[in-house]
Amino acid sequence: MDRIGRIRSEEAFSHKVTYENHELYDKGSWLSRPLKTVMDILPYFKKYDREIRILDLGCGVGRNAIAAARSIRCRIDCVDLLPAALKHLKSNARYYQVSSKINPILSSVDSYQIEKEKYDCILAISVLEHLGSRDTLLLKLHQIREGLTQGGVFILTMNTDIIEVTSDGVQVDPMFEINLKTEEAAKCCENMFRSGYKLIKKHSATQTYPVVRNSGTNKLTSSVLTYVFRKL
Ligand SMILES: C[S@@+](CC[C@H](N)C(=O)[O-])C[C@H]1O[C@@H](n2cnc3c(N)ncnc32)[C@H](O)[C@@H]1O
Repeated sequence: MDRIGRIRSEEAFSHKVTYENHELYDKGSWLSRPLKTVMDILPYFKKYDREIRILDLGCGVGRNAIAAARSIRCRIDCVDLLPAALKHLKSNARYYQVSSKINPILSSVDSYQIEKEKYDCILAISVLEHLGSRDTLLLKLHQIREGLTQGGVFILTMNTDIIEVTSDGVQVDPMFEINLKTEEAAKCCENMFRSGYKLIKKHSATQTYPVVRNSGTNKLTSSVLTYVFRKL
């Protein structure tokens, strides 16, 4: 198996373990609440007198999409390559009675073509570091830039400077397709959204958390870069 295949299989494994063992919004995992940055932005859309179009890239089981669907008038295209993620997304949407607002799409973000000026909000929460290459990342950022309507908002979080260590303390190749230095990732984002966009938020914080791999539980340390840009 090549490097990307191996990473995707390890990532599928660790996500499946989380999705099968933790209910959405229950305590005990990163699924326990939607991302605060997403929740902070949603009231901005209340002034729109029409349905908001949202794209959630790497949606998982709907941690952010379900919260958005519950709070504003919207339709959300939810893209994930993992069938188990979409299975739970659909049942969570039924449970929270927002199925009519959620459109599950089984696809890699790499191959999902974002239509020009289709979306009022695009979420890429902890997924762009899982694209197949740095070139694909730049292409996707460009598609996101073009895919937003005027006034539209892009919310990004991305793991950078990732270090993965086994329980024996051995540092291993992090199971992330792209592992950029924080400054490099910041440069890519800021260059892409420099003109025609306003920077609403920039934040970076170091996080350490366990991740389940086929071989056992490893410890991940990364600098999580957060951006919010609004199209002028
Ligand atoms: C860390 S989880 C985040 C899920 C969600 N964004 C959230 O904040 O709860 C990353 C998700 O992205 C999906 N994913 C990883 N690489 C992907 C890719 N290349 N294309 C589509 N989905 C991907 C995984 O299956 C997983 O559900």
